[in-house]
Amino acid sequence: MSDTRAVPRHLAVIMDGNGRWAEQRRRPRIIGHRAGARAVQRCLEFCLERGVEVLTLYAFSSENWGRPAEEVGGLMKLFAGTLEREAEEMHRRGICLRFIGDRSRFSAALQAKMQAAEALTRGNTRMTLAIAASYGGRQDLAMAARQLAEQVAQGQLRPEEIDEARLGQHTALADLPPPDLMIRTGGDLRISNFLLWQLAYAELWFTPQLWPDFDRDTLQQAFDDFAARQRRFGLTPAQLAPAPQGHSQV
Ligand code: FPP
Repeated sequence: MSDTRAVPRHLAVIMDGNGRWAEQRRRPRIIGHRAGARAVQRCLEFCLERGVEVLTLYAFSSENWGRPAEEVGGLMKLFAGTLEREAEEMHRRGICLRFIGDRSRFSAALQAKMQAAEALTRGNTRMTLAIAASYGGRQDLAMAARQLAEQVAQGQLRPEEIDEARLGQHTALADLPPPDLMIRTGGDLRISNFLLWQLAYAELWFTPQLWPDFDRDTLQQAFDDFAARQRRFGLTPAQLAPAPQGHSQV
């Protein structure tokens, strides 16, 4: 029987479909991104209600810099405006805001807003909202490898001391539980360079719904499916089954 109360501790989301949503309405793509920002609010609300501890949103990939300048500029304005409006409110609600990715590519003004929002909300413990911006999973791993290489070069680490745990400690969000559930909207069935390391044992859930249409019903459906799945982490079903009543467990 499924446990419908099982809620992912960490939910990661690829918010895809904003552009198509706008194009279906014959509107500029930025209108889809603005509607996407409203869907972010709905998703956040739902996760707060359900007690999700970490919500990670893929807002802008390292590859998205290659989009037309007008769209990139519009997105930067949207990020800056949203941060300006929402940072205080997030703080009030006990949310700790984090940004992962290569923020050196953002304008100095946007970087300052990100830093200020992180500093303001650092001590909050109700939920962590991680925004992946200018983020790429391969880049994340390359940076982790570079940091370890620097430690080796400085004589602080021997190559044979490098293992999964040590590499993982240098990847983004290493201090948080890894994603339990990854949702992608917009119909494509791929990971698109998102959290490549961290998603190793995440349950994947896909929907054709476009991100601006994403609502509580869809999220509930994803959570219900998640609760019904058996996560085996490489073990067999028998290994995971609880021992029958009256039998000793060895
Ligand atoms: C992918 O849809 C979406 C993005 C590249 C941007 C995501 C941004 C938001 C949801 C806006 C607000 C976010 C925050 C955190 C304030 P797409 O443009 O690739 O859609 P398509 O596949 O239909 O073209």
